[in-house]
Amino acid sequence: MIISLVGYMGSGKSHISKILSDKLNFKLIDLDKEISKRNKMTIPEIFDKKGEIYFRKLERETLEEILASEKNTILSLGGGTPVYYNNMEIINHNSKSVFLRASVATLTERLSKQKEKRPLIANITDENLAEFIAKHLFERNDFYNKAQISIITDNRTPEDIVNEITEKLYL
Ligand code: S3P
Repeated sequence: MIISLVGYMGSGKSHISKILSDKLNFKLIDLDKEISKRNKMTIPEIFDKKGEIYFRKLERETLEEILASEKNTILSLGGGTPVYYNNMEIINHNSKSVFLRASVATLTERLSKQKEKRPLIANITDENLAEFIAKHLFERNDFYNKAQISIITDNRTPEDIVNEITEKLYL
């Protein structure tokens, strides 16, 4: 089984996927890290040198390959993965998908400290960040809501969140 974690930047996909993979003894794959490794560039370098459209193609190809070949894996997706190429269709077809839901306030607080590695928000000022996230999340929520399971993550410990995921998946 593959469990895919979807959610906005800063929703805790990386952190939760690590704890979940330890708990279930599943392999852990981070889609962004896999794209970086295969292309020998960081995500900001790919955006900068090749552009976002090129990144989205790499993202789709890497996603297809992983979904077709892996077993017993936690797959941590990028915040934009569900939004392009109808990706949610293959995600739902080949894995159990989990949406990590977080409020605009939680996301803004977390992302204000970690903007540099994220090309889409690197140039947004702290003052404008909350508004940007609110709009962007509004556009993306329809895609995230296609996930099979949805978990509220605000003000909860990672362990608590992971327990809810395993309960909802009957694991
Ligand atoms: C993106 C999210 C990033 C990364 C890229 C684009 C997005 O992943 O894939 O910067 O479109 O939301 P994280 O969600 O891990 O930050």
